[in-house]
This record gives sequence, C-alpha cells and structure tokens, in this order.
Amino acid sequence: MSHHDDLIATDVLAYLNMHESKSFLRFITCGSVDDGKSTLIGRLLYDSKQIYEDQLVSIEKESKKLGTQGEKVDLALLVDGLAAEREQGITIDVAYRYFSTNKRKFIVADTPGHVQYTRNMATGASTADVAVLLIDARYGLQEQSRRHAYIVSLFGVKRVVLAINKMDLNNFDQGVFNAIEVDFRKFSENLGFLDITCIPISALNGDNITTLSSRSKWYKGPSLLDFLEHVDVDQNTFEAPFRLPVQWVNRPNLDFRGFSGTITSGIINVGDSITVSPSGKCSKVKEIVTHGGNLKSACENMAITLTLEDQIDISRGDMISTSDSPTAQADQFQAHILWMNEKELFPGRQYLLKTTNKTVLASISNLKYKVDINDFSEVAVKTLGLNEIGVATLVLSAPIAYDAYSDNRKTGSIIIIDRQTNETVGVGMLDFALRRSSNVVWQDLEVNKLIRAKQKNQNPALLWFTGLSGSGKSTIANLLEKRLLDLNRHTYILDGDNLRHGLNRDLGFTKVDRVENIRRVSEVSSLMVDAGLITIASFISPYKAERQMARDLLGDKFFIEIFINTPLDVAESRDVKGLYAKARAGEIKNFTGIDSDYEVPENPEIEIDTTKLSAAEATEIIIKYLKDNGFLSGYDL
Ligand code: ADX
Repeated sequence: MSHHDDLIATDVLAYLNMHESKSFLRFITCGSVDDGKSTLIGRLLYDSKQIYEDQLVSIEKESKKLGTQGEKVDLALLVDGLAAEREQGITIDVAYRYFSTNKRKFIVADTPGHVQYTRNMATGASTADVAVLLIDARYGLQEQSRRHAYIVSLFGVKRVVLAINKMDLNNFDQGVFNAIEVDFRKFSENLGFLDITCIPISALNGDNITTLSSRSKWYKGPSLLDFLEHVDVDQNTFEAPFRLPVQWVNRPNLDFRGFSGTITSGIINVGDSITVSPSGKCSKVKEIVTHGGNLKSACENMAITLTLEDQIDISRGDMISTSDSPTAQADQFQAHILWMNEKELFPGRQYLLKTTNKTVLASISNLKYKVDINDFSEVAVKTLGLNEIGVATLVLSAPIAYDAYSDNRKTGSIIIIDRQTNETVGVGMLDFALRRSSNVVWQDLEVNKLIRAKQKNQNPALLWFTGLSGSGKSTIANLLEKRLLDLNRHTYILDGDNLRHGLNRDLGFTKVDRVENIRRVSEVSSLMVDAGLITIASFISPYKAERQMARDLLGDKFFIEIFINTPLDVAESRDVKGLYAKARAGEIKNFTGIDSDYEVPENPEIEIDTTKLSAAEATEIIIKYLKDNGFLSGYDL
C-alpha cells in the first residue's frame, strides 16, 4: 500500500533507515462544511497511497451507491467517519491522521469548522506548524475563513496555506484566484503570519494537490504536497531557548541526583550552563541520562534526566533553562483565554491553573474584553461562555516560570481547571506579566494577628453563615453576636443586605456578581479576623467554590461554616421581606431557589435545621461549638 513498496521489497534496512530520518510536519486543515476539506484530506491520503486495498474497494462501492461524485470515487468518504460520529452527538476533539511520503511524515489535525468547535480547532492549532485554510473559490473569503485565520494565528501558527478550492468550477480563472489572494493578504496583515502561500486547487480532481495541474499553467508556485514536503519549520523549535520543566527528582541512591522531564523546547549539551527557576541558582550539565544511555546533547520532546556539576536544590515544578536565556517568573499576567465549558467563566472565582509542571490557584482579576471572532472587535463583557475568547488579567497564588506564548507555545500556555469537578474549563496563552507582579511586595507589619488576638484575649475566627434568603441567617447571627458580647468577646457582623448598601453597592444578583460579592466579603472577613475579631459573615453565598475560597483564605483553623438549613418551601412561606412573592411574580430575576441555584454545603462544621430549632436554640448550639473548640476560653493560639 505504501509509496515505498519497491524499497521494502528490495532493501528493508534502507527503507527503515529512510523512514526514521524523515522530518515531521504537523498541520491543521480548516474549512467549512462544503469547502471540500474531507475531499482534500482524502485526496492527500489517496495520492500518497495511504489507503488499504480493502478500504479503497469499500469506498469505491459506497461511491457508486451514493453517486455523490458520478462515476468517480468520493474521497471524502475516507474521512467522513468523523462527521458521522459528530452527527450522532459523539464529542470528538480532533481527528489526527498520519501519512507519509518519501520526504516527510505528516500528522494532519482534522477539526470541524463551526464556531461551536472553536475549542477543538484550538487544540489542533496549538501544535500545528502549518495551517491549510480552505476557501471555496466561488464565494471567496467568508466570515468563517476569517475566523479560522484568526484562531490559527492566535494559537501561534505562523505559516498558512490558502488552498483556494473548486477552481475547476471557474475554469481555473486566474482573476478570481488573484482577487481572493489580495483580499486575504490585506485582511491578515496584522495576524503575524510569517508565510502565506496561496494555491489554486481542485481537491475533487486532484489539481495542484500532489502534482501541478495543466489546467492552471499561469500558477507558478508549488503543489500543496510539494509545499508541505518542503516548508521549513524545524529550525523554529530548535532555535527556541532550552526549557526543561522538572517533573520529578530522581534519587535512587545517595550518589545519584537527577532532574527528570520532557524537554519542551530547545537543545541541551553536556557542559551547558543552566539556571533554575524560581531559585535563580546556576550550575552546569554533567550528564544527560536517557533510557537508551547517556547522550552528549538532547532536544525538544525527549524525555531526559539531567545531573549537574553542583549540588543545588531543585524540586518538581521548577524549570531548568540554559543560562543565556532563562525563563522569567511572575504571579500576575495578561492572557488570552479560550473558554471551553458550558459553565461560564467567573472573574474572581478560584480555578486551578496548570503549567507544564506546576499547578497553582488562580483567578481572573479583570476580564478586559471578549474578542468577537467575526470582526475581531473588542466587546465589554462580564463573563466568557463556551468557545468564547477573551483577554483578561490573572492573579496566581504563587509565581510560575513562563515565557510569552508568542515566544514559546508550550511554556507560554496554561490550562484552567474547575476545582470542584476537575474538568478542564479553559486554556490560556500568556501575553505578558503585569509589572505590578514584581513591583508590589508584601509588607510585614510588626503588630500581627496573634498580637491583636492576645490583646483581646480571644481566638479570632470567621463564622460563615450560608443559606437561602429568609432562612434565618441574620436573625441567628444577631442573637449570636449579642451572646458573644455578653461573654466579653470582640465581634463584628458582615451582613449581605448591609454590605450591598456600601462596599458592594455596584453588584447585583447575576452569578458573576454573586461570585464577586463573596470574593470581596471573604477578603474583608479575612481582614477582620486578622484584626483579632470573632467575625460573623451572613450571606446566601450560594456557590461551593466561593465558600471554599473563603475557607482557603482563612485556613481551616479559623473558618467555621454554618449551614442555616431551611427548605425552600419553608423560607418561602415565611417570606419575611416579601421577596419570594415578587420573585414568583417575575418582578425579581435570579432569585436564589427560584431561578438561581443554591449549592448545599457538603461538610459544614455546624448545620442548623430551622424547622426543628428556634433561633435561640440555634444560637446555643453555635455557642457550644465555640466553647468545645476553644474559641471562648481566652487566647491560646
Ligand atoms: S449572595 O447570593 O450574593 O450571597 P447576599 O447574601 O449578598 O447574596 O444578599 C442576599 C439578600 O439580598 C437577600 O437576603 C435578599 O434580601 C436580597 N435580594 C434581593 N434580590 C435577590 C435575589 N435575586 N436573590 C437573592 N437575594 C436577593
């Protein structure tokens, strides 16, 4: 089946040798449903003889039956399995197809073109060296084509082929071809492509796919395959600075200490000077150890273990670079973010942020805008939905070693993960670190939480009340504070309704606003506890993620979650403020329990069932908990 048939038959070793030493090209094809993408890929597989006999017989039969291409074989049938699966609702990220010619091996990422598949396209584009953008010559540049060009440029593809297809339908009219080319070059001026090659093709008939067509004598460029076989891409990656994210420290015995990982970019040689992030420590490479034995040099994608001349401290999550161009590190960034989840992005919410070898907590501090990928305009938004791309600033819980995505696609990209579900919800491309990241430092003040707590002779804590509106939070909180006052404790109540008159006056009740509400409240509560106070926060606080954030901020020792458990029907029947009636009448939108979620706490420290307990009884239960856990017996931190 292969183009190497003869060589295999006569000299297997020569064949294997040739195959081994061939370079790799990864490319992505982008096109809309009828642009001929499947036919094009089918044609490449067919013409490079990557089809098994039985496959060929089967699609020949199928073609006859369907009659889509008259007497001819419908090559799209070779790859349309993907489309069929999609129709059945099976989620397919990207279909990767492999083929090879005498000159090169190829991996083609086949991704659907519609806007709802933006994330799939991004996955394919993020590792591609070249993008083949298919254009239907009859329609020229469409909105969809512009979107594809933007996405591949955003994900760092520098070389683009504009495959202007269906040229047979206009008799290979040079004027049409030129007009589309001019259009595209003008449009893509600012997309940062290094190379744009336009090729007139007919995927269906094979014109200019593997060989130049006699029907377009005016065209002087390469055929598509010729271009793909010769386009120069290797240099790029090897020229990038050396980066080794340390995955683990290999220490089988006292005499050996190696740092293992897969090289994300560049080349390393024995004797090279290296610098470690974040410590900034330097040394020289002593050995490069691999499964196959020690090497003098190693390059991108190789799994290696480095040993060093000096005993320096390096741990998992560190990055080793060559000293001539070490990575930078920071904990605040501007980034482009592609959101990949049905549940929208919430600025202020804490997510896990994963780099090549490190996971930290991160939140979006400012969602600057969403990019309308149809016309690239910047739209002010409060959130990002599925498949939307935006620009935002991020705050991390710890610094990471990084490169700008434009310099290094691997060390410049991040993955965003939901803390509750562990799903990947977004990907980000780091644009640059914010200067405030290194210009704002933490001031260590001499009078601290412990000193303030001692002065008040109490152990401060945050009592976090959560529950539906009208569940009785404020009533119990109020009684509790009076009881604590009687016991000579120093307290403060932060109450939802009250804070919304001042600090949080600008916030409403959308999900995004509630996340921000609780984020601010957590920060303020943390300051109050730092001031040595027993602080009571009384907020619906409907989302687990933000309650968890408050807990993390304070630390388990200082955080007591109190679930005021009043079922919706009971809270609604009480309707102290008359808000449930209004919500039912549609006068208030996003009302918790009615048309906005409440996520029930799973492991609160205290749960109060208000259908069984009076407010006074509930208060005593909380007081007892505080007593039992040493919060009321004077300072002993
Ligand atoms: S939270 O969800 O962001 O935690 P918060 O506790 O600050 O809410 O405020 C809730 C109070 O605002 C309720 O007790 C109620 O008095 C009032 N309120 C007004 N509109 C709404 C609404 N749509 N949903 C819930 N509470 C509302």
